[in-house]
Amino acid sequence: MRCLNIIGCGSLGQSLARLWRDNEVFQIGHILNRSIESAQSAVDYIGDGTAAERIEEIIPSDSYLIATADSQIQASAEALAASRKVDSNTLVFHCSGVLSSDLLSSLREQGASVASAHPLRSFARPILSKEEFSGTYCAIEGDDKARVVLSKAFEAIGASIIAIDAKDKALYHAAGAIVCNYLTTLMELGLQTYEESGIERDLALKMIEPFVRGTLDNFFAVGPVKGLSGPIARGDCETIESHLRALEDWSQPKADLYRLMGQITLELSRKQGTASEEALQGLEALLKGSKRTSH
Ligand SMILES: NC(=O)c1ccc[n+]([C@@H]2O[C@H](COP(=O)([O-])OP(=O)(O)OC[C@H]3O[C@@H](n4cnc5c(N)ncnc54)[C@H](OP(=O)(O)O)[C@@H]3O)[C@@H](O)[C@H]2O)c1
Repeated sequence: MRCLNIIGCGSLGQSLARLWRDNEVFQIGHILNRSIESAQSAVDYIGDGTAAERIEEIIPSDSYLIATADSQIQASAEALAASRKVDSNTLVFHCSGVLSSDLLSSLREQGASVASAHPLRSFARPILSKEEFSGTYCAIEGDDKARVVLSKAFEAIGASIIAIDAKDKALYHAAGAIVCNYLTTLMELGLQTYEESGIERDLALKMIEPFVRGTLDNFFAVGPVKGLSGPIARGDCETIESHLRALEDWSQPKADLYRLMGQITLELSRKQGTASEEALQGLEALLKGSKRTSH
């Protein structure tokens, strides 16, 4: 079995290390955090490994995970390279979603095979079992040898592997922010709009729950084109015009955002084909118009 040393073993490092150890994928070697107390508590949680206080204490191994915060990965890689603990048989990887394996080039220069492997899920709460982790998508890029070993290691704990190009990682990560973080933002904007219309936030939250859940269920059941409903799908220019007027009276930036979202919605409506071409052109003029809608 391969032996994994971990530099930076917090939320993600502890969950993955425990899953790998429980499923006999990696044995855990040394763990180095900023403080020895934190490294020891990671060892206690994982049930394997040895806490190290300094990089010099780490016994060289065939595999290293650098799971510090993103801002510390390159410095940690350079410190590992300076300690001369890697060679052509060593695998080194990090798990950042936005940064690529090029961050580990100081180790690649010493012959190590390097990669990044990003599991698309939150580790804010510890993940205790393979059942819980199963179905997590993991985007991997990097050197061939490293990709093969890491694909097997993640598959062994239930992940589905997808390949990503190093140059596309920032866009890949932005997509995650859009679908996850901005979905929250979009619902917050909806609540603010209900409040502006005189409906209290607590009531609005209750009102939208079945509405939003139904939309999401429909989206995943039939996809965005078939799943689209509402005035842009129907080609209802008058309703969109009245939305824009009301939003502009309240907040021009919010009206601008509505227009931008509307333009993407219009592309879906075109593909759906429910609205007439004339109505679609009318909607396009309204949604692309930067001037205030006439009262
Ligand atoms: N958390 C997630 O949901 C998630 C999901 C996907 C990917 N990721 C990626 O996983 C990586 C780790 O994220 P995380 O959320 O697990 O971070 P975290 O919980 O903040 O843990 C980071 C750990 O790194 C240690 N550390 C920081 N700087 C160090 C250094 N210079 N030398 C040695 N150890 C150092 C910290 O030690 P102390 O405990 O002593 O402070 C801490 O234990 C990041 O690349 C992140 O982008 C995270």
